[in-house]
Amino acid sequence: MKILNIGSINIDYVYEVDNFVKSGETIPSNNFKVFLGGKGLNQSVALAQAGSQVFHAGNINIKDDNIKKELTKWNVNIDYIKEESESTGHAIIQVNKEGENSIIIHGGANRTFESNQIDMILKNFNQGDILLLQNEINKIPEIIEKAKNIGMKIFLNPAPMTKEVLNYPIDLVDCLIVNESEAKKLTEEDLDSDEIINLLKNKYSNISILLTLGEKGSIYSYNTKYLKCEAMKVKAVDTTAAGDTFIGYFISYLSRDKEIKDCLSIASKAASICVTKKGGAISIPKI
Ligand code: RIB
Repeated sequence: MKILNIGSINIDYVYEVDNFVKSGETIPSNNFKVFLGGKGLNQSVALAQAGSQVFHAGNINIKDDNIKKELTKWNVNIDYIKEESESTGHAIIQVNKEGENSIIIHGGANRTFESNQIDMILKNFNQGDILLLQNEINKIPEIIEKAKNIGMKIFLNPAPMTKEVLNYPIDLVDCLIVNESEAKKLTEEDLDSDEIINLLKNKYSNISILLTLGEKGSIYSYNTKYLKCEAMKVKAVDTTAAGDTFIGYFISYLSRDKEIKDCLSIASKAASICVTKKGGAISIPKI
């Protein structure tokens, strides 16, 4: 069983600020750093740090091939990374004193996937292999449909949530992974976590739902199965990539047939450590 992540690769420009900039305001930053990130890349790094072999498929600018070297150092397979003329995707991230973030992304090369590229990648994978997707690349519905035809097990983390997601063929995925705000946008309801789970289960029957709740923990539900996991209490300095860390660890352990409660617990531990460090991929621990 192989794990494929078709996902974004970003260069993160991170500004530490006292408070997020407001409309019409100009504010100074207290510190500035450049990190590697992107929800796709971060989740591949988390899978690798958790001990899985992961194939990352993504697009970058030809001048940024150092990214491939970095991914190789993290033990992420780069066979399906394409170099092209479009600029590499980037993110502008503000991190405030509480360690919370506010992010703008520019898709760039992340949004240049073409049908023949998707076919070339997917032909190397088989029934039972895992496919992980986020929502920072183009052609998600096509990828889901093609992977489903192969019989791959599809994990979808529709982040960032956009209105297009409402038309994605979510009923074809095996596991939907959302945080509270994504779940509210997807259900178009402002409900508590248990009500959200029930609504999602009614809307997309027969798929498992993983709801991440940040410092309040996480909930997994499938059919009659319902498991809740508390988060570890830590002092957060930067929450960037915490959700990505959780997802990578959860899928890595699940793919090795670990009990769901253990998958949730290790994912929660890894995400808690991640928030104590600054940066995107670089803050993902190996535990
Ligand atoms: O989930 C965190 C990531 O979101 C950052 O690394 C940034 O690139 C954005 O994609």
